[in-house]
Amino acid sequence: CGMIFTVAIDGPAAAGKGTIGRALAERFGFAHLDTGLLYRAVGVKGGDPVAAAEALSEADLMRADLRSLEAGEAASRVAVIPGVRAALLAFQRSFARREGGAVLDGRDIGTVICPAAEVKLFVTASPEVRAQRRWLELGGEAAAQSYEAVLEGVKARDARDMGRADAPLKPAADAVLIDTSAMSAEAALDAAGTQVRAALARAGHG
Ligand code: CDP
Ligand code: CDP
Repeated sequence: CGMIFTVAIDGPAAAGKGTIGRALAERFGFAHLDTGLLYRAVGVKGGDPVAAAEALSEADLMRADLRSLEAGEAASRVAVIPGVRAALLAFQRSFARREGGAVLDGRDIGTVICPAAEVKLFVTASPEVRAQRRWLELGGEAAAQSYEAVLEGVKARDARDMGRADAPLKPAADAVLIDTSAMSAEAALDAAGTQVRAALARAGHG
């Protein structure tokens, strides 16, 4: 007897979506998809973005440079193009409905990709806290960018993601908000896990 169960996690850059998504998937045995990687792969591929999205392959998702700040920036530029989003929709929807449960994190999972998800989380934190996290990931004082430059980048990406016409970043009406500004990763995971357990029980899988 299989189970179709989707956890949708949305929020701005460096809010902790991926950390929560990966840990939930491990804890509950679900598959996990970081949907930002799809947009990053399209962004760094070059050429016509719609054609790149339509032809996206597993190999494109394995590129080592996808985690860079530049790839995130390139992703948010191609993510405003409706044809790019349309080309990536079917893959994400079928991933969400895979047997055994799935966690997807991104910007529009609860609003557009999986509006009927059993769990919707909107994970956020202040721009300053998020920029600090990204800067530390880049090496802190040893990083090529200053904290201020990273903060500017975070704010610019927030504005582009929230301001676009197609699938803008915003919480779904029924999303549970988790503000991780003053939370450890463990505390954020506990809050998310509580939501998942409650939804599993509601769905009769408790
Ligand atoms: O996926 P997203 O860009 O939203 O963020 P992430 O890559 O999961 O997390 C960004 C950084 O914040 C990582 O280095 C985490 O260890 C750290 N962090 C967190 O995810 N959650 C907290 N409550 C505190 C720190
Ligand atoms: O890890 P981080 O939160 O910095 O970024 P990401 O999740 O890898 O997403 C990179 C960019 O892709 C975002 O700034 C969005 O512009 C775009 N994106 C999107 O439009 N829709 C998604 N479901 C996921 C990402």
